[in-house]
Amino acid sequence: MANLLSNFRNTIILSLLLAALMIFAFGRVAPGGFDLGFWQAVLRWAHVGSGILWIGLLYYFNFVQIRVMPSIPAELKPAVGKHIAPEALFWFRWAALATVVFGVGVLFTRGHAYAAEVLSFGLAGGLVQGDQGFMLMGVGVWLAIVMFLNVWGIIWPNQKRALGIVVVDDDKKAKAARVAMLASRTNLLLSLPMLTSMAMYQTLFG
Ligand code: HEM
Repeated sequence: MANLLSNFRNTIILSLLLAALMIFAFGRVAPGGFDLGFWQAVLRWAHVGSGILWIGLLYYFNFVQIRVMPSIPAELKPAVGKHIAPEALFWFRWAALATVVFGVGVLFTRGHAYAAEVLSFGLAGGLVQGDQGFMLMGVGVWLAIVMFLNVWGIIWPNQKRALGIVVVDDDKKAKAARVAMLASRTNLLLSLPMLTSMAMYQTLFG
């Protein structure tokens, strides 16, 4: 067991296999079996899993790395800039993409009408009484989409310059680091309101 646990790749593969077993067990006992509802639940699982990885890394950057970086001695900074940050950013940006893909999957497996209502803040159904829930869920989904665009459109391109993956002069490098930091802070700011829609909608509206 210690051998297995000392290998990251094998541990994550085993974790996925155990989860697959659980997912299969759910399909076997679910009232509808392996129907569309089952696949919606699988997508929901994948969505929350990748969301944890994405937002977990966003929180690592904001709770730890950005705050501690200024107090790290100059000769040690490359350990973060050249080794830790690029790896964290790799999982961060791909987890963001996976979260959106699976989230959109959940939206559409709940039906096109639901997707249209949420994406239009309830306007698709005429914003009649009872559509307010769609509006609140729509706010969360659009906040998450803005956060995703921020990751791929602003944070990652600027981090590439700040970390020296794309070579630019020192002035541009410092500017890129500042833009990336502010964009990351913006996502931190949006993260909790976004999560409110994601986490509260199903319990309150079904
Ligand atoms: C841009 C992308 C996103 C889209 C399109 C999206 C879409 C959705 C949808 C449609 C649901 C189901 C809501 C319902 O019950 O009807 C959902 C649930 C959820 N989402 Fe997202 N989401 C996105 C981003 C995120 C992010 C970044 C997180 C961060 C962790 C997240 C976490 C969750 C959680 C925890 C649930 C609740 C699952 C449950 O209670 O069953 N989502 N999302």
